[in-house]
Amino acid sequence: MALLEVKGLSKSFGGLMAVNNAGLTVEEGRPHSIIGPNGAGKSTFLNMIIGRLKPDKGSVLFSGQSLIGLQPQQINQRGVVRVFQSPAIYPEMTVLENVTVSTLAKRDGTFKFNFLERPLKRKDAVTAAEEALTEVDLIGQQHEEAKNLSYGNKRRLELAMCLAQKPRLLLLDEPTAGMSQSDTIATINLLQKLGKNGEFTKVIIEHDMHVVFTLAEHITVLHQGTVIADGSPDEIKNSEIVQEAYLGGMEE
Ligand SMILES: Nc1ncnc2c1ncn2[C@@H]1O[C@H](COP(=O)(O)OP(=O)(O)OP(=O)(O)O)[C@@H](O)[C@H]1O
Ligand SMILES: [Mg+2]
Repeated sequence: MALLEVKGLSKSFGGLMAVNNAGLTVEEGRPHSIIGPNGAGKSTFLNMIIGRLKPDKGSVLFSGQSLIGLQPQQINQRGVVRVFQSPAIYPEMTVLENVTVSTLAKRDGTFKFNFLERPLKRKDAVTAAEEALTEVDLIGQQHEEAKNLSYGNKRRLELAMCLAQKPRLLLLDEPTAGMSQSDTIATINLLQKLGKNGEFTKVIIEHDMHVVFTLAEHITVLHQGTVIADGSPDEIKNSEIVQEAYLGGMEE
């Protein structure tokens, strides 16, 4: 059974068909990427999977069970975790506290965290947080206040907060957006390592198709809300439809 099976997903905003009858299949353990130019409908597609937007039509099966109609929180608790495009961290807390809070939020089923309870008293949560920080190479800065981190490290912190929730499916929306070139390279290297042992499956959204050729084993191409190609990186590289679409002014 596929880990994620999306069929016929559609969403309009007024007269605009942002996503039009789009689908894809993500196999467990196979890194997948969704590419397409600005405005192709990638984030809208993702937001329907995680329950932030209600689709007009279509189905989303995660591990065989429908996610349609569930609240974002419920979808999150099933192990579908989305990495946000802008850092949603608590600036005054330490790095370790941030990740620990994230772990507790998942387990307690609410993001309304109880700030009266010191998060670091929850030993098991701290252990999970330390593991996640080690994975993103931030363990050396665990006692730093989050606000003092560089932009690239804030994004890593955010990633650690998602990893600490022990996802089955990790969705990343343009993980290198706004990063310097050196941070971009570091992030791509990090993403290559993460989940390598099959702990979770990655789905990475990107508009720069060169970023994903090294990260994904399967690629779905969205253009004007529609899937125009779906296949291995080689198939996508050699696809005439994709080349035409990109040459036809899709690339910024
Ligand atoms: N809430 C909204 N209300 C109205 N229009 C929207 C809304 N969200 C997205 N759109 C429009 O839907 C289309 C698809 O947008 P979407 O953000 O999904 O594209 P994207 O592929 O993620 O682009 P980018 O690479 O810039 O992030 C765009 O034309 C966008 O302007
Ligand atoms: Mg987007």
